[in-house]
Amino acid sequence: MREFATFEEKLSAWTAESMKSVFGLDESEIHLGVSPTNNEQFGDYQCNAAMALSKALKKAPRQIAQEFVEGAVLPDFIDRVEIAGPGFINFFLSNSAVAGYIQSLENDAKLGAEPVGEGKTVVIDYSSPNVAKPMHIGHIRSTVIGNSIDRLYRFLGYNVIADNHLGDWGTQFGLMLVGYRAFVNEAALAEAPVEELERIYVASYNKSKEDETWREKAKTELVKLQQGNEENRALWKKFIELSIEEFDTIYNRLGVKFDLYRGESFYNDRLPKIIEQLEAKELAKESDGALIVDLEEDGMPVCIVRKSDGGYNYATTDLATVESRIEEFSPERIIYVTDERQQLHFKQFFKISEKLGLEANLVHVWFGLMRLPEATFSTREGNVIKLAALLDEAEARALELVKSSSPDMPEAQQKDLAKAIGIGAIKYTDLSQNPQSLVTFTWEKALNMEGEGNSAPYLQYAYARISSVSDKYKAQFPDSDLNRYPLVIEHELERRLAIKLARFPAAVSGAADNYRPNILADYLYDLAQIYSSFYSNVPFLKADEGVRESRIRLCRSIAAVLKQGLDLLGIETRDRI
Ligand code: ARG
Repeated sequence: MREFATFEEKLSAWTAESMKSVFGLDESEIHLGVSPTNNEQFGDYQCNAAMALSKALKKAPRQIAQEFVEGAVLPDFIDRVEIAGPGFINFFLSNSAVAGYIQSLENDAKLGAEPVGEGKTVVIDYSSPNVAKPMHIGHIRSTVIGNSIDRLYRFLGYNVIADNHLGDWGTQFGLMLVGYRAFVNEAALAEAPVEELERIYVASYNKSKEDETWREKAKTELVKLQQGNEENRALWKKFIELSIEEFDTIYNRLGVKFDLYRGESFYNDRLPKIIEQLEAKELAKESDGALIVDLEEDGMPVCIVRKSDGGYNYATTDLATVESRIEEFSPERIIYVTDERQQLHFKQFFKISEKLGLEANLVHVWFGLMRLPEATFSTREGNVIKLAALLDEAEARALELVKSSSPDMPEAQQKDLAKAIGIGAIKYTDLSQNPQSLVTFTWEKALNMEGEGNSAPYLQYAYARISSVSDKYKAQFPDSDLNRYPLVIEHELERRLAIKLARFPAAVSGAADNYRPNILADYLYDLAQIYSSFYSNVPFLKADEGVRESRIRLCRSIAAVLKQGLDLLGIETRDRI
Protein backbone atom coordinates (compact mmCIF):
# COMPACT_ATOMS: atom_id res chain seq x y z
CA MET A 1 0.00 0.00 0.00
CA ARG A 2 1.14 3.49 -0.78
CA GLU A 3 1.98 5.48 2.33
CA PHE A 4 1.47 8.94 0.95
CA ALA A 5 -1.46 10.59 -0.75
CA THR A 6 -1.48 11.57 -4.40
CA PHE A 7 -2.44 15.13 -5.28
CA GLU A 8 -5.78 13.91 -6.57
CA GLU A 9 -6.49 12.38 -3.17
CA LYS A 10 -5.25 15.35 -1.19
CA LEU A 11 -7.15 17.81 -3.31
CA SER A 12 -10.36 15.76 -3.22
CA ALA A 13 -10.20 15.48 0.55
CA TRP A 14 -9.50 19.14 1.04
CA THR A 15 -12.13 20.29 -1.45
CA ALA A 16 -14.78 18.08 0.12
CA GLU A 17 -13.89 19.35 3.58
CA SER A 18 -14.00 22.97 2.43
CA MET A 19 -17.27 22.49 0.53
CA LYS A 20 -18.76 21.20 3.76
CA SER A 21 -17.67 24.19 5.76
CA VAL A 22 -18.30 26.90 3.15
CA PHE A 23 -21.77 25.68 2.14
CA GLY A 24 -22.76 23.69 5.18
CA LEU A 25 -23.17 20.61 3.02
CA ASP A 26 -23.57 17.03 4.07
CA GLU A 27 -20.91 14.48 3.01
CA SER A 28 -23.44 12.67 0.83
CA GLU A 29 -24.25 15.78 -1.17
CA ILE A 30 -20.73 16.35 -2.30
CA HIS A 31 -19.78 14.88 -5.64
CA LEU A 32 -16.46 15.92 -6.94
CA GLY A 33 -13.93 14.84 -9.41
CA VAL A 34 -10.41 16.15 -9.24
CA SER A 35 -8.33 15.44 -12.29
CA PRO A 36 -5.12 16.60 -13.90
CA THR A 37 -5.57 19.56 -16.23
CA ASN A 38 -4.44 19.22 -19.79
CA ASN A 39 -3.14 22.74 -20.03
CA GLU A 40 -0.76 24.29 -17.51
CA GLN A 41 -2.54 27.57 -17.92
CA PHE A 42 -5.41 26.03 -15.97
CA GLY A 43 -3.25 24.97 -13.08
CA ASP A 44 -2.05 21.52 -12.17
CA TYR A 45 -5.35 19.94 -11.22
CA GLN A 46 -8.94 20.84 -11.74
CA CYS A 47 -12.21 20.22 -9.92
CA ASN A 48 -15.73 20.19 -11.32
CA ALA A 49 -17.56 20.26 -7.98
CA ALA A 50 -19.19 23.64 -8.63
CA MET A 51 -21.02 22.23 -11.64
CA ALA A 52 -22.00 19.07 -9.79
CA LEU A 53 -23.38 21.06 -6.85
CA SER A 54 -25.28 23.63 -8.83
CA LYS A 55 -28.58 21.83 -8.47
CA ALA A 56 -28.28 21.10 -4.78
CA LEU A 57 -27.22 24.64 -3.95
CA LYS A 58 -29.58 26.25 -6.47
CA LYS A 59 -26.82 28.54 -7.65
CA ALA A 60 -24.86 29.05 -10.84
CA PRO A 61 -21.63 26.99 -10.89
CA ARG A 62 -19.47 30.05 -11.32
CA GLN A 63 -21.00 31.66 -8.29
CA ILE A 64 -20.46 28.51 -6.25
CA ALA A 65 -16.85 28.46 -7.36
CA GLN A 66 -16.49 32.11 -6.44
CA GLU A 67 -17.94 31.66 -2.95
CA PHE A 68 -15.82 28.57 -2.50
CA VAL A 69 -12.60 30.33 -3.43
CA GLU A 70 -13.41 33.24 -1.12
CA GLY A 71 -14.50 31.10 1.80
CA ALA A 72 -11.99 28.23 1.79
CA VAL A 73 -8.71 28.40 3.66
CA LEU A 74 -5.82 27.28 1.48
CA PRO A 75 -3.57 24.56 2.91
CA ASP A 76 0.22 24.68 2.47
CA PHE A 77 0.30 22.41 -0.52
CA ILE A 78 -1.87 24.70 -2.63
CA ASP A 79 -0.27 27.86 -3.87
CA ARG A 80 -3.38 29.41 -5.36
CA VAL A 81 -6.81 28.64 -6.74
CA GLU A 82 -8.49 30.13 -9.79
CA ILE A 83 -11.85 29.85 -11.46
CA ALA A 84 -12.15 29.07 -15.14
CA GLY A 85 -14.82 28.52 -17.75
CA PRO A 86 -18.29 27.59 -16.51
CA GLY A 87 -17.05 27.09 -12.95
CA PHE A 88 -13.99 24.89 -12.87
CA ILE A 89 -11.84 25.33 -9.81
CA ASN A 90 -8.18 25.20 -10.83
CA PHE A 91 -5.47 24.33 -8.34
CA PHE A 92 -1.88 25.48 -8.53
CA LEU A 93 0.31 23.39 -6.25
CA SER A 94 3.10 24.85 -4.21
CA ASN A 95 6.62 24.01 -5.32
CA SER A 96 7.53 22.58 -1.94
CA ALA A 97 4.57 20.20 -2.02
CA VAL A 98 5.58 19.05 -5.49
CA ALA A 99 9.16 18.48 -4.34
CA GLY A 100 7.91 16.58 -1.29
CA TYR A 101 5.83 14.32 -3.49
CA ILE A 102 8.78 13.44 -5.71
CA GLN A 103 10.79 12.59 -2.61
CA SER A 104 8.13 10.18 -1.43
CA LEU A 105 8.05 8.60 -4.88
CA GLU A 106 11.67 7.62 -4.50
CA ASN A 107 10.74 4.93 -2.02
CA ASP A 108 7.59 3.70 -3.65
CA ALA A 109 7.84 0.61 -5.80
CA LYS A 110 4.55 1.49 -7.53
CA LEU A 111 5.63 5.08 -8.20
CA GLY A 112 2.44 6.46 -6.75
CA ALA A 113 -0.01 3.97 -8.25
CA GLU A 114 -2.55 2.41 -5.91
CA PRO A 115 -2.84 -1.40 -5.94
CA VAL A 116 -6.59 -1.24 -6.38
CA GLY A 117 -6.78 -4.78 -7.70
CA GLU A 118 -5.59 -6.55 -4.58
CA GLY A 119 -7.76 -9.52 -3.81
CA LYS A 120 -9.40 -9.45 -7.23
CA THR A 121 -8.89 -11.82 -10.14
CA VAL A 122 -9.16 -10.97 -13.82
CA VAL A 123 -8.88 -13.45 -16.66
CA ILE A 124 -7.34 -11.98 -19.81
CA ASP A 125 -7.90 -14.02 -22.93
CA TYR A 126 -5.42 -12.87 -25.55
CA SER A 127 -3.24 -13.86 -28.48
CA SER A 128 -5.30 -17.04 -28.94
CA PRO A 129 -4.07 -18.08 -32.40
CA ASN A 130 -5.33 -21.12 -34.20
CA VAL A 131 -3.39 -24.35 -34.17
CA ALA A 132 -2.00 -25.54 -37.49
CA LYS A 133 -2.61 -22.12 -38.93
CA PRO A 134 0.25 -19.71 -38.93
CA MET A 135 0.04 -16.95 -36.39
CA HIS A 136 -0.47 -13.91 -38.56
CA ILE A 137 0.09 -10.23 -38.12
CA GLY A 138 -3.44 -9.77 -36.74
CA HIS A 139 -2.50 -11.95 -33.78
CA ILE A 140 0.44 -9.73 -33.00
CA ARG A 141 -1.90 -6.93 -32.02
CA SER A 142 -3.83 -9.20 -29.69
CA THR A 143 -0.57 -10.45 -28.18
CA VAL A 144 1.00 -7.03 -27.79
CA ILE A 145 -2.11 -5.15 -26.62
CA GLY A 146 -3.28 -8.04 -24.47
CA ASN A 147 0.12 -8.37 -22.85
CA SER A 148 0.24 -4.69 -22.01
CA ILE A 149 -3.22 -4.89 -20.41
CA ASP A 150 -1.99 -7.97 -18.56
CA ARG A 151 1.03 -6.04 -17.25
CA LEU A 152 -1.08 -3.02 -16.30
CA TYR A 153 -3.53 -5.12 -14.28
CA ARG A 154 -0.78 -7.04 -12.52
CA PHE A 155 0.91 -3.74 -11.67
CA LEU A 156 -2.35 -2.55 -10.14
CA GLY A 157 -2.34 -5.58 -7.88
CA TYR A 158 -4.85 -7.79 -9.67
CA ASN A 159 -4.39 -11.51 -9.74
CA VAL A 160 -4.18 -11.91 -13.51
CA ILE A 161 -4.80 -15.18 -15.31
CA ALA A 162 -3.36 -14.77 -18.79
CA ASP A 163 -5.10 -17.43 -20.83
CA ASN A 164 -4.12 -18.26 -24.38
CA HIS A 165 -7.39 -19.59 -25.75
CA LEU A 166 -5.91 -21.53 -28.63
CA GLY A 167 -8.14 -22.42 -31.54
CA ASP A 168 -7.33 -26.11 -31.32
CA TRP A 169 -10.71 -27.38 -32.40
CA GLY A 170 -12.66 -26.75 -35.55
CA THR A 171 -13.18 -27.55 -39.18
CA GLN A 172 -9.59 -26.76 -40.12
CA PHE A 173 -8.55 -30.09 -38.62
CA GLY A 174 -10.45 -31.99 -41.25
CA LEU A 175 -8.33 -30.28 -43.90
CA MET A 176 -5.17 -30.80 -41.87
CA LEU A 177 -5.76 -34.52 -41.39
CA VAL A 178 -6.37 -35.30 -45.04
CA GLY A 179 -3.70 -32.86 -46.15
CA TYR A 180 -1.13 -34.34 -43.82
CA ARG A 181 -1.74 -37.87 -45.02
CA ALA A 182 -1.55 -36.88 -48.66
CA PHE A 183 1.19 -34.27 -48.77
CA VAL A 184 3.47 -34.57 -45.78
CA ASN A 185 7.12 -34.38 -46.58
CA GLU A 186 8.75 -36.21 -43.68
CA ALA A 187 12.13 -34.63 -44.26
CA ALA A 188 10.67 -31.16 -44.28
CA LEU A 189 8.62 -31.94 -41.19
CA ALA A 190 11.73 -33.01 -39.33
CA GLU A 191 13.60 -29.98 -40.54
CA ALA A 192 11.05 -27.23 -40.03
CA PRO A 193 7.89 -28.76 -38.62
CA VAL A 194 5.67 -25.75 -38.43
CA GLU A 195 6.52 -24.46 -41.85
CA GLU A 196 5.64 -27.84 -43.21
CA LEU A 197 2.30 -27.88 -41.37
CA GLU A 198 1.57 -24.53 -42.84
CA ARG A 199 2.39 -25.71 -46.32
CA ILE A 200 0.14 -28.73 -45.84
CA TYR A 201 -2.71 -26.59 -44.64
CA VAL A 202 -2.47 -24.20 -47.55
CA ALA A 203 -2.20 -27.01 -50.08
CA SER A 204 -5.18 -28.80 -48.56
CA TYR A 205 -7.19 -25.62 -48.41
CA ASN A 206 -6.46 -24.80 -52.03
CA LYS A 207 -7.39 -28.30 -53.10
CA SER A 208 -10.65 -28.06 -51.17
CA LYS A 209 -11.61 -25.05 -53.20
CA GLU A 210 -11.68 -27.05 -56.43
CA ASP A 211 -12.27 -30.58 -55.28
CA GLU A 212 -15.62 -31.58 -53.85
CA THR A 213 -14.53 -35.11 -52.82
CA TRP A 214 -11.57 -33.65 -50.99
CA ARG A 215 -13.93 -31.47 -49.02
CA GLU A 216 -16.08 -34.50 -48.18
CA LYS A 217 -13.05 -36.52 -47.11
CA ALA A 218 -11.97 -33.71 -44.84
CA LYS A 219 -15.42 -33.64 -43.26
CA THR A 220 -15.36 -37.38 -42.60
CA GLU A 221 -11.95 -37.23 -40.93
CA LEU A 222 -13.12 -34.30 -38.83
CA VAL A 223 -16.10 -36.26 -37.54
CA LYS A 224 -13.82 -39.20 -36.74
CA LEU A 225 -11.56 -36.89 -34.80
CA GLN A 226 -14.50 -35.49 -32.91
CA GLN A 227 -15.69 -38.98 -32.06
CA GLY A 228 -12.36 -39.87 -30.54
CA ASN A 229 -10.74 -41.91 -33.31
CA GLU A 230 -7.32 -42.72 -31.89
CA GLU A 231 -5.18 -42.21 -34.97
CA ASN A 232 -6.77 -38.89 -35.75
CA ARG A 233 -6.44 -37.73 -32.18
CA ALA A 234 -2.77 -38.60 -32.08
CA LEU A 235 -2.15 -36.64 -35.23
CA TRP A 236 -4.20 -33.73 -33.94
CA LYS A 237 -2.15 -33.67 -30.75
CA LYS A 238 0.98 -33.59 -32.82
CA PHE A 239 -0.30 -30.54 -34.73
CA ILE A 240 -1.00 -28.79 -31.45
CA GLU A 241 2.42 -29.52 -30.01
CA LEU A 242 4.21 -28.40 -33.12
CA SER A 243 2.17 -25.21 -33.33
CA ILE A 244 2.64 -24.28 -29.69
CA GLU A 245 6.35 -24.73 -30.23
CA GLU A 246 6.30 -22.11 -32.96
CA PHE A 247 4.05 -19.76 -31.02
CA ASP A 248 6.34 -20.04 -28.02
CA THR A 249 9.37 -18.91 -29.97
CA ILE A 250 7.42 -15.79 -30.91
CA TYR A 251 6.20 -15.25 -27.35
CA ASN A 252 9.73 -15.62 -26.05
CA ARG A 253 10.98 -13.03 -28.47
CA LEU A 254 8.16 -10.73 -27.44
CA GLY A 255 8.66 -11.35 -23.72
CA VAL A 256 5.11 -12.63 -23.34
CA LYS A 257 4.18 -15.31 -20.82
CA PHE A 258 0.85 -17.03 -20.30
CA ASP A 259 -0.47 -18.69 -17.19
CA LEU A 260 -2.62 -21.05 -19.21
CA TYR A 261 -2.74 -22.47 -22.71
CA ARG A 262 -6.25 -23.77 -22.71
CA GLY A 263 -7.48 -24.47 -26.15
CA GLU A 264 -11.09 -24.61 -27.16
CA SER A 265 -10.93 -28.41 -26.90
CA PHE A 266 -10.51 -28.11 -23.14
CA TYR A 267 -14.19 -27.17 -22.91
CA ASN A 268 -15.58 -29.89 -25.18
CA ASP A 269 -17.15 -31.94 -22.42
CA ARG A 270 -19.15 -28.98 -21.26
CA LEU A 271 -20.79 -28.26 -24.58
CA PRO A 272 -23.76 -30.67 -24.33
CA LYS A 273 -24.53 -29.27 -20.88
CA ILE A 274 -24.55 -25.72 -22.21
CA ILE A 275 -27.04 -26.81 -24.87
CA GLU A 276 -29.19 -28.47 -22.19
CA GLN A 277 -29.23 -25.28 -20.15
CA LEU A 278 -30.13 -23.22 -23.19
CA GLU A 279 -32.98 -25.58 -23.94
CA ALA A 280 -34.16 -25.75 -20.33
CA LYS A 281 -34.33 -21.98 -20.18
CA GLU A 282 -36.07 -21.96 -23.52
CA LEU A 283 -33.42 -19.78 -24.99
CA ALA A 284 -32.61 -22.07 -27.89
CA LYS A 285 -34.86 -23.48 -30.58
CA GLU A 286 -34.61 -25.69 -33.65
CA SER A 287 -34.37 -24.04 -37.02
CA ASP A 288 -33.68 -26.02 -40.20
CA GLY A 289 -32.09 -28.77 -38.16
CA ALA A 290 -29.78 -26.40 -36.34
CA LEU A 291 -30.20 -25.11 -32.82
CA ILE A 292 -30.28 -21.34 -32.60
CA VAL A 293 -30.66 -18.57 -30.07
CA ASP A 294 -32.93 -15.86 -31.34
CA LEU A 295 -31.46 -12.48 -30.46
CA GLU A 296 -33.84 -10.35 -32.45
CA GLU A 297 -35.16 -8.66 -29.33
CA ASP A 298 -31.62 -7.63 -28.58
CA GLY A 299 -31.11 -6.24 -32.03
CA MET A 300 -28.74 -8.99 -33.18
CA PRO A 301 -28.90 -11.80 -35.72
CA VAL A 302 -29.54 -15.35 -34.55
CA CYS A 303 -26.66 -17.21 -33.02
CA ILE A 304 -26.24 -20.86 -34.02
CA VAL A 305 -25.21 -22.95 -31.05
CA ARG A 306 -25.42 -26.36 -32.71
CA LYS A 307 -25.13 -26.92 -36.42
CA SER A 308 -27.41 -29.20 -38.38
CA ASP A 309 -24.62 -31.80 -38.55
CA GLY A 310 -24.47 -31.83 -34.75
CA GLY A 311 -21.25 -29.83 -34.49
CA TYR A 312 -21.01 -27.05 -31.98
CA ASN A 313 -20.03 -23.50 -32.74
CA TYR A 314 -17.46 -20.96 -31.67
CA ALA A 315 -20.10 -19.25 -29.50
CA THR A 316 -21.02 -22.50 -27.75
CA THR A 317 -17.40 -23.05 -26.79
CA ASP A 318 -17.13 -19.51 -25.52
CA LEU A 319 -20.21 -19.96 -23.35
CA ALA A 320 -18.72 -23.11 -21.86
CA THR A 321 -15.46 -21.26 -21.34
CA VAL A 322 -17.15 -18.49 -19.38
CA GLU A 323 -18.89 -21.04 -17.19
CA SER A 324 -15.64 -22.87 -16.54
CA ARG A 325 -13.71 -19.69 -15.76
CA ILE A 326 -16.36 -18.53 -13.29
CA GLU A 327 -16.32 -21.88 -11.51
CA GLU A 328 -12.57 -22.05 -11.30
CA PHE A 329 -11.46 -18.46 -10.76
CA SER A 330 -14.47 -16.34 -9.67
CA PRO A 331 -13.03 -13.52 -11.74
CA GLU A 332 -14.06 -9.94 -11.17
CA ARG A 333 -13.78 -9.51 -14.93
CA ILE A 334 -12.94 -11.47 -18.06
CA ILE A 335 -11.21 -9.46 -20.77
CA TYR A 336 -11.01 -10.70 -24.37
CA VAL A 337 -8.66 -9.10 -26.86
CA THR A 338 -9.29 -9.72 -30.55
CA ASP A 339 -9.58 -7.82 -33.79
CA GLU A 340 -12.65 -5.82 -34.72
CA ARG A 341 -14.12 -8.51 -36.94
CA GLN A 342 -15.26 -10.45 -33.89
CA GLN A 343 -17.39 -7.74 -32.33
CA LEU A 344 -20.70 -9.37 -33.19
CA HIS A 345 -19.57 -12.75 -31.90
CA PHE A 346 -18.68 -11.28 -28.52
CA LYS A 347 -21.85 -9.19 -28.28
CA GLN A 348 -23.90 -12.28 -29.03
CA PHE A 349 -22.32 -14.63 -26.57
CA PHE A 350 -22.09 -11.97 -23.86
CA LYS A 351 -25.83 -11.52 -24.23
CA ILE A 352 -26.48 -15.25 -24.13
CA SER A 353 -24.21 -15.62 -21.06
CA GLU A 354 -26.30 -13.00 -19.33
CA LYS A 355 -29.52 -14.77 -20.26
CA LEU A 356 -28.05 -18.03 -18.95
CA GLY A 357 -27.34 -16.32 -15.66
CA LEU A 358 -23.58 -16.68 -15.94
CA GLU A 359 -22.52 -13.82 -13.75
CA ALA A 360 -19.34 -12.22 -14.90
CA ASN A 361 -18.28 -8.86 -16.10
CA LEU A 362 -17.31 -9.65 -19.71
CA VAL A 363 -15.32 -7.13 -21.71
CA HIS A 364 -14.37 -7.30 -25.36
CA VAL A 365 -11.37 -5.18 -26.21
CA TRP A 366 -11.18 -4.98 -29.97
CA PHE A 367 -8.66 -3.37 -32.23
CA GLY A 368 -8.48 -2.41 -35.87
CA LEU A 369 -6.34 -4.32 -38.29
CA MET A 370 -2.79 -3.30 -38.95
CA ARG A 371 -1.92 -2.26 -42.45
CA LEU A 372 1.53 -3.25 -43.46
CA PRO A 373 3.41 -1.72 -46.34
CA GLU A 374 2.89 -4.94 -48.28
CA ALA A 375 -0.91 -4.55 -47.97
CA THR A 376 -3.12 -6.21 -45.40
CA PHE A 377 -2.52 -9.78 -44.44
CA SER A 378 -4.72 -12.72 -45.12
CA THR A 379 -4.32 -16.03 -43.37
CA ARG A 380 -6.14 -18.33 -45.62
CA GLU A 381 -4.57 -17.62 -48.94
CA GLY A 382 -1.12 -18.39 -47.71
CA ASN A 383 0.32 -14.98 -48.55
CA VAL A 384 1.15 -14.58 -44.93
CA ILE A 385 3.68 -12.14 -43.74
CA LYS A 386 4.94 -14.20 -40.96
CA LEU A 387 5.53 -12.69 -37.59
CA ALA A 388 8.95 -14.20 -37.24
CA ALA A 389 10.01 -12.54 -40.46
CA LEU A 390 8.64 -9.23 -39.29
CA LEU A 391 10.53 -9.50 -36.01
CA ASP A 392 13.71 -10.52 -37.83
CA GLU A 393 13.46 -7.49 -40.03
CA ALA A 394 12.84 -5.22 -37.06
CA GLU A 395 15.95 -6.49 -35.32
CA ALA A 396 18.05 -6.24 -38.47
CA ARG A 397 17.00 -2.66 -39.10
CA ALA A 398 17.57 -1.76 -35.46
CA LEU A 399 21.03 -3.27 -35.67
CA GLU A 400 21.86 -0.96 -38.56
CA LEU A 401 20.73 1.96 -36.44
CA VAL A 402 22.74 0.88 -33.44
CA LYS A 403 25.85 0.29 -35.53
CA SER A 404 25.73 3.79 -36.91
CA SER A 405 24.87 5.50 -33.62
CA SER A 406 27.23 3.43 -31.42
CA PRO A 407 29.98 2.14 -33.71
CA ASP A 408 32.35 1.46 -30.82
CA MET A 409 30.02 -0.70 -28.81
CA PRO A 410 31.00 -4.39 -28.54
CA GLU A 411 29.11 -6.46 -31.06
CA ALA A 412 27.27 -8.63 -28.54
CA GLN A 413 25.97 -5.53 -26.85
CA GLN A 414 24.95 -4.01 -30.18
CA LYS A 415 22.94 -7.12 -30.92
CA ASP A 416 21.28 -7.17 -27.54
CA LEU A 417 20.40 -3.53 -27.91
CA ALA A 418 19.08 -4.08 -31.43
CA LYS A 419 16.74 -6.74 -30.07
CA ALA A 420 15.35 -4.42 -27.43
CA ILE A 421 14.95 -1.63 -29.96
CA GLY A 422 13.57 -3.69 -32.83
CA ILE A 423 10.99 -5.55 -30.77
CA GLY A 424 10.21 -2.39 -28.83
CA ALA A 425 9.62 -0.51 -32.08
CA ILE A 426 7.07 -3.05 -33.30
CA LYS A 427 5.26 -3.08 -29.98
CA TYR A 428 5.25 0.65 -29.57
CA THR A 429 3.83 1.26 -33.05
CA ASP A 430 0.98 -0.94 -32.01
CA LEU A 431 0.50 0.42 -28.51
CA SER A 432 0.92 4.12 -29.13
CA GLN A 433 -2.26 4.42 -31.15
CA ASN A 434 -5.84 4.14 -30.17
CA PRO A 435 -6.35 0.38 -30.58
CA GLN A 436 -9.52 0.98 -32.52
CA SER A 437 -7.88 2.99 -35.25
CA LEU A 438 -6.30 1.51 -38.32
CA VAL A 439 -2.57 1.37 -37.87
CA THR A 440 -0.41 1.83 -40.91
CA PHE A 441 2.95 0.42 -40.12
CA THR A 442 6.05 2.02 -41.60
CA TRP A 443 9.62 1.29 -40.61
CA GLU A 444 10.46 4.99 -40.82
CA LYS A 445 7.93 5.80 -38.12
CA ALA A 446 8.61 2.75 -35.99
CA LEU A 447 12.34 3.31 -35.80
CA ASN A 448 12.45 7.09 -35.77
CA MET A 449 14.97 8.17 -33.17
CA GLU A 450 14.75 11.91 -33.78
CA GLY A 451 13.04 14.34 -31.44
CA GLU A 452 9.77 14.38 -33.33
CA GLY A 453 9.54 10.64 -33.50
CA ASN A 454 6.99 9.19 -31.15
CA SER A 455 8.67 5.82 -31.19
CA ALA A 456 10.11 3.19 -28.87
CA PRO A 457 13.74 4.01 -29.77
CA TYR A 458 13.11 7.65 -28.95
CA LEU A 459 11.87 6.70 -25.47
CA GLN A 460 14.54 4.07 -24.98
CA TYR A 461 17.11 6.64 -25.96
CA ALA A 462 15.66 9.19 -23.52
CA TYR A 463 15.86 6.60 -20.78
CA ALA A 464 19.48 5.73 -21.57
CA ARG A 465 20.40 9.40 -21.65
CA ILE A 466 18.96 9.90 -18.17
CA SER A 467 20.74 6.84 -16.86
CA SER A 468 24.01 8.15 -18.18
CA VAL A 469 23.51 11.42 -16.28
CA SER A 470 23.32 9.53 -13.00
CA ASP A 471 26.38 7.50 -13.95
CA LYS A 472 28.35 10.59 -14.88
CA TYR A 473 27.42 12.13 -11.58
CA LYS A 474 28.63 9.06 -9.72
CA ALA A 475 31.88 9.13 -11.65
CA GLN A 476 32.47 12.80 -10.88
CA PHE A 477 31.34 12.74 -7.28
CA PRO A 478 31.98 9.23 -6.10
CA ASP A 479 31.65 10.05 -2.41
CA SER A 480 28.57 12.16 -2.61
CA ASP A 481 25.35 10.99 -1.02
CA LEU A 482 22.48 12.36 -3.08
CA ASN A 483 19.95 11.82 -0.37
CA ARG A 484 21.69 14.31 1.87
CA TYR A 485 20.56 17.09 -0.43
CA PRO A 486 16.90 18.02 -0.46
CA LEU A 487 14.93 17.90 -3.65
CA VAL A 488 14.02 21.45 -4.58
CA ILE A 489 11.70 22.51 -7.38
CA GLU A 490 12.44 25.96 -8.74
CA HIS A 491 12.97 26.04 -12.47
CA GLU A 492 9.85 26.01 -14.59
CA LEU A 493 10.98 22.86 -16.40
CA GLU A 494 11.70 21.12 -13.12
CA ARG A 495 8.19 21.92 -12.08
CA ARG A 496 6.70 20.63 -15.30
CA LEU A 497 8.67 17.42 -14.99
CA ALA A 498 7.69 16.91 -11.38
CA ILE A 499 4.01 17.55 -12.03
CA LYS A 500 4.18 15.13 -14.92
CA LEU A 501 5.70 12.48 -12.65
CA ALA A 502 2.83 12.98 -10.22
CA ARG A 503 0.44 12.06 -13.01
CA PHE A 504 1.92 8.65 -13.65
CA PRO A 505 -0.75 6.87 -11.55
CA ALA A 506 -3.49 8.59 -13.53
CA ALA A 507 -1.87 7.49 -16.81
CA VAL A 508 -1.64 3.90 -15.57
CA SER A 509 -5.21 3.70 -14.37
CA GLY A 510 -6.45 5.54 -17.45
CA ALA A 511 -4.75 2.95 -19.65
CA ALA A 512 -6.00 0.02 -17.54
CA ASP A 513 -9.59 1.20 -17.05
CA ASN A 514 -10.06 2.01 -20.72
CA TYR A 515 -7.98 -0.91 -22.04
CA ARG A 516 -5.94 1.60 -23.96
CA PRO A 517 -2.19 1.32 -23.47
CA ASN A 518 -1.84 4.32 -25.78
CA ILE A 519 -2.90 6.54 -22.85
CA LEU A 520 0.26 5.44 -21.08
CA ALA A 521 2.34 5.67 -24.27
CA ASP A 522 1.20 9.27 -24.78
CA TYR A 523 2.10 10.04 -21.20
CA LEU A 524 5.60 8.60 -21.57
CA TYR A 525 6.17 10.45 -24.80
CA ASP A 526 5.16 13.75 -23.17
CA LEU A 527 7.42 13.04 -20.23
CA ALA A 528 10.36 12.26 -22.52
CA GLN A 529 9.76 15.46 -24.45
CA ILE A 530 9.70 17.63 -21.37
CA TYR A 531 12.84 15.88 -20.22
CA SER A 532 14.41 16.58 -23.57
CA SER A 533 13.94 20.33 -23.19
CA PHE A 534 15.11 20.12 -19.60
CA TYR A 535 18.23 18.32 -20.78
CA SER A 536 19.03 20.91 -23.40
CA ASN A 537 18.10 24.02 -21.41
CA VAL A 538 18.96 23.36 -17.80
CA PRO A 539 22.44 22.51 -16.57
CA PHE A 540 22.61 19.76 -14.04
CA LEU A 541 26.10 18.36 -13.78
CA LYS A 542 27.43 21.89 -14.14
CA ALA A 543 24.96 23.43 -11.70
CA ASP A 544 25.94 24.57 -8.21
CA GLU A 545 26.21 22.02 -5.47
CA GLY A 546 22.77 21.37 -4.04
CA VAL A 547 20.93 22.37 -7.18
CA ARG A 548 22.96 19.75 -8.99
CA GLU A 549 22.06 17.00 -6.55
CA SER A 550 18.43 17.99 -6.51
CA ARG A 551 18.31 17.76 -10.31
CA ILE A 552 20.05 14.41 -10.36
CA ARG A 553 17.47 13.15 -7.91
CA LEU A 554 14.70 14.39 -10.15
CA CYS A 555 16.38 12.62 -13.08
CA ARG A 556 16.42 9.41 -11.09
CA SER A 557 12.67 9.56 -10.64
CA ILE A 558 12.10 10.33 -14.30
CA ALA A 559 14.23 7.33 -15.23
CA ALA A 560 12.27 5.13 -12.83
CA VAL A 561 8.94 6.22 -14.27
CA LEU A 562 10.11 5.82 -17.87
CA LYS A 563 11.48 2.37 -17.18
CA GLN A 564 8.38 1.22 -15.34
CA GLY A 565 6.07 2.78 -17.91
CA LEU A 566 7.88 1.13 -20.81
CA ASP A 567 7.83 -2.15 -18.95
CA LEU A 568 4.05 -1.87 -18.68
CA LEU A 569 4.01 -1.63 -22.46
CA GLY A 570 6.24 -4.69 -22.57
CA ILE A 571 9.15 -2.64 -23.88
CA GLU A 572 12.65 -3.27 -22.57
CA THR A 573 15.14 -0.58 -21.67
CA ARG A 574 18.92 -0.57 -21.65
CA ASP A 575 21.09 1.80 -19.68
CA ARG A 576 23.35 2.41 -22.67
CA ILE A 577 22.44 3.24 -26.22
N1 ARG B 1 -8.81 -18.19 -32.06
C1 ARG B 1 -9.54 -16.98 -32.36
C2 ARG B 1 -8.98 -16.33 -33.64
O1 ARG B 1 -7.83 -16.49 -33.96
C3 ARG B 1 -9.51 -15.98 -31.24
C4 ARG B 1 -10.07 -16.44 -29.91
C5 ARG B 1 -10.41 -15.33 -28.99
N2 ARG B 1 -10.88 -15.76 -27.72
C6 ARG B 1 -12.10 -16.24 -27.48
N3 ARG B 1 -12.40 -16.66 -26.27
N4 ARG B 1 -13.00 -16.32 -28.41
O2 ARG B 1 -9.70 -15.61 -34.30
